[in-house]
Amino acid sequence: MATLERRPLVAANWKMQLTRAEAATYCRALLAGGTASAVEILLLPSYPLLGTVTEALAGSAIALGAQDLSPEPGGAFTGDVSAAQLVDAGCRYVICGHSERRRLHGEDDALVAAKARAALASGLAPIVCVGESREERHGGRTFDVLARQLEPLPVDPRLVLAYEPLWAIGTGETATPDTAADAHSYLRSRLERRAGAEQAARQRILYGGSVTPENAPALAGEHDIDGFLVGGASLDPMRFRAIISSFAVP
Ligand code: PGA
Repeated sequence: MATLERRPLVAANWKMQLTRAEAATYCRALLAGGTASAVEILLLPSYPLLGTVTEALAGSAIALGAQDLSPEPGGAFTGDVSAAQLVDAGCRYVICGHSERRRLHGEDDALVAAKARAALASGLAPIVCVGESREERHGGRTFDVLARQLEPLPVDPRLVLAYEPLWAIGTGETATPDTAADAHSYLRSRLERRAGAEQAARQRILYGGSVTPENAPALAGEHDIDGFLVGGASLDPMRFRAIISSFAVP
């Protein structure tokens, strides 16, 4: 459970899904349930939906973010999108280094760190995804992988980490609360070593990987789990809302 220093953040990673009309309908349904102030709610649509979602969320407390960005500030980079363009489109957050980008687009730790720096330089909060594969976990290398992924990242209190074990993403196999808590507490200890206890206590670490309304409450109860990055279950606004509520309990 997040602490007073860390307001829970629950983010919907829609991935490459939904049309503008579907996104607008989704936002109406989500807003109809009100927005609990104890939890920061974030939608992460793909680029062509950003304008529609900004309009649909106008006047609400729900934040907007993007799923990726270029490390470059601008110029001849066909197909890429810069941090400044995302800020201009109304974004406050951006995912960096989602495992689908690392795996399908060959993004390495250095590129992910460059993206996180570019985000921070423009005033966006990066949500940097880290996590081990099934093979790495079985080989006892989970913490080594997390340490390696963390190492090149900028030290900044605005940076949000998302622990997303690869074997849990889109598989229906969630990390148990104990397994996730171990990884989160390890990540917090690494943050402490890098930035000091005070800053580490303020940084949020989200869990992602097959989060559902059914498994969210037990995960949300863990001390170092400060929110969720939700894929599949976030596509239904009612299920997403139920996941948000797992943190809204006093
Ligand atoms: P999932 O995706 O909830 O569908 O497992 C999480 C993510 O990829 O961010």
